[in-house]
Amino acid sequence: MPEITYPADLPIAEHRESLLATIGAHQVVIVAGETGSGKSTQLPKLCLELGRGVEGMIGHTQPRRVAARTVAERIAAELHCELGTAVGYAVRFTDRVSDQTLVKVMTDGLLLAEIQRDRRLLRYDTFIVDEAHERSLNIDFLLGYLTHLLPQRPDLKLIVTSATIDTEQFSRHFDHAPIITVSGRAHPVELRYRPFGVDPEDERDQVAAIAEAVAELSREGPGDILVFLSGEREIHDAADMLRKAELHETEILPLYARMSAVEQHRVFEPHVGRRVILATNVAETSITVPGVRYVIDAGTARISRYSRRLKVQRLPIEAVSQASANQRAGRCGRLAPGVAIRLYSDEDFSQRPAFTEPEILRTSLASVILQMSALGLGDIASFPFVEPPDPRSIADGINLLDELGAFEPAAGERDVNDGPRRLTPLGRRLAQLPVDPRFGRMVLESDRLGCTREVMVIAAALSIQDPRERPATRLDAATQAHQRFAGEDGSDFMAFVRLWDHLRTQQRTLSGNQFRRLCRDEFLNYVRVREWQDLYSQLRQIAGGIGVRLNSEPAHPDHVHQALLAGLLSHLGMREGETKEFRGARGAKFMIGRGSAQAKRPAQWVIAAELVETNRLCGRVAARVQPEWAERLGRHLVKYQHGEPEWSAERGSSTVLERVTLYGLPIVTNRRIQLSRVDPALAREMFVRHALVEGDWAADHAFVDHNRHLLDDVRALAERARRPDLEPDPELVIAFYDGRVPADITSTRHFDRWWRQQQ
Ligand code: CDP
Ligand code: MG
Repeated sequence: MPEITYPADLPIAEHRESLLATIGAHQVVIVAGETGSGKSTQLPKLCLELGRGVEGMIGHTQPRRVAARTVAERIAAELHCELGTAVGYAVRFTDRVSDQTLVKVMTDGLLLAEIQRDRRLLRYDTFIVDEAHERSLNIDFLLGYLTHLLPQRPDLKLIVTSATIDTEQFSRHFDHAPIITVSGRAHPVELRYRPFGVDPEDERDQVAAIAEAVAELSREGPGDILVFLSGEREIHDAADMLRKAELHETEILPLYARMSAVEQHRVFEPHVGRRVILATNVAETSITVPGVRYVIDAGTARISRYSRRLKVQRLPIEAVSQASANQRAGRCGRLAPGVAIRLYSDEDFSQRPAFTEPEILRTSLASVILQMSALGLGDIASFPFVEPPDPRSIADGINLLDELGAFEPAAGERDVNDGPRRLTPLGRRLAQLPVDPRFGRMVLESDRLGCTREVMVIAAALSIQDPRERPATRLDAATQAHQRFAGEDGSDFMAFVRLWDHLRTQQRTLSGNQFRRLCRDEFLNYVRVREWQDLYSQLRQIAGGIGVRLNSEPAHPDHVHQALLAGLLSHLGMREGETKEFRGARGAKFMIGRGSAQAKRPAQWVIAAELVETNRLCGRVAARVQPEWAERLGRHLVKYQHGEPEWSAERGSSTVLERVTLYGLPIVTNRRIQLSRVDPALAREMFVRHALVEGDWAADHAFVDHNRHLLDDVRALAERARRPDLEPDPELVIAFYDGRVPADITSTRHFDRWWRQQQ
């Protein structure tokens, strides 16, 4: 065991005694403290000091890969051991853990995946669930699972760490577990509000506003500047601009989750001159960037959100909560008094929500249930969540997953106590795609149909806010600009693809600034266009990881729309006569919203990406489809009805009219099919009666004539003898044939083949 010491300057060091005593005495402890107080790096060492990590490992979870690695490296360095020995880490695709490992730092997602292989998590004797305030789905899943596991494993200890936000809630959830607060001294931070682009005259964009803020802070004195931005694109845009500005002795350093390890590491390395770190919200609480004296906060983050109104999962760039904004500002008050510039107004700040909602409240429950099923976490209705979801939404979620074919069919009537349903192979693949399950289903289908490129472009477009802008003052010009992509096919979906191709072509020849201008002139929101492209690449990468291939040839629009329909089965509509109203699933009625190509000249059958409940139900983003497509895609949902069977002498078999409905919509009507396909017994019976007994069949078999003559003779005899009781009984004749004709003979063709073999 390496010698354990604690850096004296870390606030947590002062609480060593009480932490040791409390962790020793309780199964669950909540540790709260501001970012940088030493929770992530020091708690595992305190656990080691208590002798933990020997019976089983100390499992230390982080929400982000970047943090998992840097935290592990730091602990290993402080314990003077090599990474992968006493301290190891594991993230997706990398595993540096050995037999000697006592502390294993990992992403929370990875630990969740381990539960499937080791239900009781016996390899561990302690868990530190770090950054629990983040309340991601993964964290809620882990906390719920551990709630259930703790009583079964009295030897297990759990430490939950959190920024100083709502720690009471965790304590209550874990039977009033003790809370220890380890915050250190925070220096005052001066807040300056520098909004941009609010005034219509103000032409500055975010990049320009950042440049000005960097200049303003540079005049304050030496010290590093930490800039918070919503994503990689914004970071690269800002980095390009700042590098071009060639600021004096200033290094520009991006910091985000997908960077390489080496690049990320530079943040912790000593340096001379000034540093401007351009970071996503990883730097909010996950990673303490040392040496920061100034913060610039653009005030946004990409926040995955389920729209209850639109019933879809989106990944919009949103204003961060007050709690997040304060966390960000607080990053510059660790060493000395700091200055934080917010690129928005103080009114804007005061109108923001106090906290970021937990992800489970922002996520489509279909997607939560899907992930829980994929992880084998058991039934959502009885899972011990910190904040359980609403039961009605659970039912909606399960319905949607059934619609998408994610579950094996339920055997008979089910009730809530039957436990979780089993995922189909399709459901398991769906669980891996980071978009709304409806959109994920489209992508999976597009692979089969060779139109993944188009469908991913569309799925990404539907996952963000529409990049097309319609300013009230220039509505006509905007409509005209957007109309160019409407196309002949009346498909709002293909319009997205045409717009996408146009932008890609332009981007190839234009400079960044020119492209930005083009977007503005064509009434497109530049940030959302970049967001669209970003999400598309992300989707392509992840879909590629589960074997979805990109088509190289442009796809046929019919194929695209079939793939879309796979995710929108309950968004199918049939036009009511010549009206503009559509009959939808389960008796719903909807109109197509203005702005859609389907609003003016509606087709007989349409799909709509969204069905929005305004004062009436309104379909948005629509296209024409062929209803028959839904039969194959909705195989698990369609209902068949059949009319009266009819014998056809011409065909030599019986047929029946078939009608197929999906959620009550007649997607196929008057389809004549062989009766033998739906009722082979009846088809055989009708063949025997009509063809063999009644002779409604121009056959050239000798026995037919022979039998007919025989029956005629019997009839003549009965007549002559005035003995109607000797008339041949048709039922007896049927019985005669019935006893001789094999069970699978349902038509003249079948019969002929069999009869030939009998000769
Ligand atoms: O988890 P918490 O925010 O409370 O603090 P921490 O991550 O344990 O960080 C404690 C200190 O270690 C901070 O000052 C970090 O900057 C520093 N640290 C570091 O220098 N290098 C790392 N790889 C990780 C942390
Ligand atoms: Mg931490």
